[in-house]
Amino acid sequence: MTEPKSSRAASTDTGAILVSGAGGEMGHALLEAFAQRYHGKREIIAMDVRELPKDRAAHASKAYACDVSDPAAIDDIGLKHDVSEVWHLAALLSTRGEKSPELALKVNVMGSANLLKLAADSAVRRGTPVKFMFPSTIAIYGVPTLADKRAAGRVDEDHCLEPITMYGVNKRAVEEMGRYYARHYRLLAADRPECTVDFRSIRFPGIISADTVPSGGTSDYGPEMLHSAAQGKPYACFVRPDSRIPFMTMPDAVRSLMELADAPRAKLSRLVYNVSAFAPSAEEIAAKVREFFPKADTTYAPTLERQRIIDSWPEDCDDSAARRDWGWKPQHDFNRAFAEYIVPKIKARYGC
Ligand code: SER
Repeated sequence: MTEPKSSRAASTDTGAILVSGAGGEMGHALLEAFAQRYHGKREIIAMDVRELPKDRAAHASKAYACDVSDPAAIDDIGLKHDVSEVWHLAALLSTRGEKSPELALKVNVMGSANLLKLAADSAVRRGTPVKFMFPSTIAIYGVPTLADKRAAGRVDEDHCLEPITMYGVNKRAVEEMGRYYARHYRLLAADRPECTVDFRSIRFPGIISADTVPSGGTSDYGPEMLHSAAQGKPYACFVRPDSRIPFMTMPDAVRSLMELADAPRAKLSRLVYNVSAFAPSAEEIAAKVREFFPKADTTYAPTLERQRIIDSWPEDCDDSAARRDWGWKPQHDFNRAFAEYIVPKIKARYGC
């Protein structure tokens, strides 16, 4: 991945960066970006519920296999390191969360609570705010019917907040917990603002990576269609051809988080921001995939559950607050995403 532009403004903070969910899709891309940015000059602590593969652990100074929802394990990590930033990526995604809602609640909410507490304790110990970067999601939105979805169009951060999945409910709860820790926790924000959690969050659309394939999400049909075509495998898409939600590329997603992390706090009018890049229908993705892989064999076999989830998410998100406050702008629109990032990388990956 190319080093994000914002890294030129890399902070002078020398504390440790703790990354949860380091074994996931975004963790993969982020660890690489941190390795390029810090060249080992800053302690990167990677955490995942499973042991990280050796090549991924190599990007971190220390790797822990531990469950975010275990408070004692998280406390212990917090005491062993001088953590000044937490990038909390670990979560059970929307489709997986509907299979085990109680497990999703435990991992997504209790895991976040444990890490917010770690950040708060670390801020008090250090006497400086601890940054808490949190990927939220389009799944926090919920529109009741397809007609409402069409009428809502591009949704801003303050509307349609009635998620229908446990994952969406969990992420929304953590956004609020982040607000509490940033502004009210033990009234520290008023008395000792230097000891607070500096919570910053982005609501991501579906993300497409050329390097990894997601699992357990409902936006997975985008990347699955593409990776199947590149491997010459047929693909039965689990939503209707007219299903429309926003997507962005993984390099843009990682860059957006890094740019938000680098933005001066005073410029941020919100704690949680939408970002958006392009919003194709499933059929438009399939057509674009066929442009580059003419033999792609995509059919449609919508499933009730996943279709309901996609129908409840907005067609697109209004990201004007991010553009205004911290200069967000995607590098990849729909055409550039395929021509400049996805297709060249995926062809190199599968040798096609
Ligand atoms: N990609 C996620 C999912 O599909 C949405 O944030 O669950």
